[in-house]
Amino acid sequence: MVTINKLTKRKKSSVDIPSHTRETTKKKSLKRGIEVPEANLIVLKAIGFPFRLRGDPKPTGLEIDNEKIFSDYAREQWMGSSVHLGAFLFDRYIMPDYAFEIVEVHPEHSVITENTQIQLSSISDSETVSPQRLITLEDVIGHEPMKQKCRLILEYLRHPAQFGEWAPRAILFHGPPGTGKTLTARAVASEADARIFLARASDLIGVHVGDGGRRITSLFDDARKHAPSIIFIDELDAIGLARSYQSIRGDVSEVVTALLGELDQTTEESGVVVIAATNALPLIDPAIQTRFDTVFEFSLPTPKERLEILKLYTKRLPLKLEADLQDIVDRTEGLSGRDLRDRILKESLHLAISEGSSSISKDIVRRVLNTIKTKDTPDYTV
Ligand SMILES: Nc1ncnc2c1ncn2[C@@H]1O[C@H](COP(=O)(O)OP(=O)(O)OP(=O)(O)O)[C@@H](O)[C@H]1O
Ligand SMILES: [Mg+2]
Repeated sequence: MVTINKLTKRKKSSVDIPSHTRETTKKKSLKRGIEVPEANLIVLKAIGFPFRLRGDPKPTGLEIDNEKIFSDYAREQWMGSSVHLGAFLFDRYIMPDYAFEIVEVHPEHSVITENTQIQLSSISDSETVSPQRLITLEDVIGHEPMKQKCRLILEYLRHPAQFGEWAPRAILFHGPPGTGKTLTARAVASEADARIFLARASDLIGVHVGDGGRRITSLFDDARKHAPSIIFIDELDAIGLARSYQSIRGDVSEVVTALLGELDQTTEESGVVVIAATNALPLIDPAIQTRFDTVFEFSLPTPKERLEILKLYTKRLPLKLEADLQDIVDRTEGLSGRDLRDRILKESLHLAISEGSSSISKDIVRRVLNTIKTKDTPDYTV
């Protein structure tokens, strides 16, 4: 425990801005005589500047060359600040007003002291958090064998020891756009007790030569450090390009090489499961494809699944839908789950709202369906 009025060692800012504008949580720490626990560990995520002039380049992330020096530097300038999850700390010296978000703090609502260890999350521009609404595998319609495999992965992450050398390591989702690949990975992420590292492949490429390789390495390093954990790489085709395409996108070949190396190191002992998704399997380097021990194809929904998807999202519509769902199913062959939700239900809702209707009538749905090109695009009548 730390008594706040003893904390005097705080450097003054080089620019004299009132300190309450700088740390969102500092007010509390100034209450004299209050006992607050010491922060043992804080993990920061680099966010960026509060604003920039239009047209100025946006910083693309930070590199830490020496973690110990960074921890000392950060502790020194924020000593005495009270911290909690989601609060922001602003740098004062190297990049004044550059913001860091607190993404981990032990214990919650504590104070930075000389004993606090401060780390920077090395995949600062990827998400490491679970999605806002708790999505579960129950929200994914169809794809039963794949959901079963995902449950097995969840089991492995809970009890890695019981799997030994038979641990699941890398799983690849592929199939047409809008069939639920990202949804499924997010469901696994929100159901798992493990730490999740969500990275969009395009974010991993980086701006400068060498960035991409380094980002992949630090992503996997981080995941191994926090094992058991899941790495989810969405839109894998952006980095896992087959060699014939790498001549067009020269910058990705170093990334492919780094990814191959890391996938090889993801052994059963590492406690890391990699999930990757793509809607362009033929573009993926075959060497990368073979590193995945399970490959799942997400196909377009069957009529029965289309009905279930429509039922699921109709329940969430703010207006009553008067059209018969089976009629919609019969007219939507070849459409994906995303099409059903966004191009049929959402469009119908928007039309109803803009026409001032209090419900979504059959006529509105008919008009929306007539604008959609399905396999045989007949005129829709309900
Ligand atoms: N099988 C499904 N069950 C329930 N909802 C679905 C299903 N498939 C798609 N959806 C809905 O469509 C949305 C988009 O799906 P998702 O982002 O998972 O597609 P994707 O397969 O990752 O597509 P892409 O290849 O374009 O990235 C989901 O958020 C969900 O609302
Ligand atoms: Mg996706």
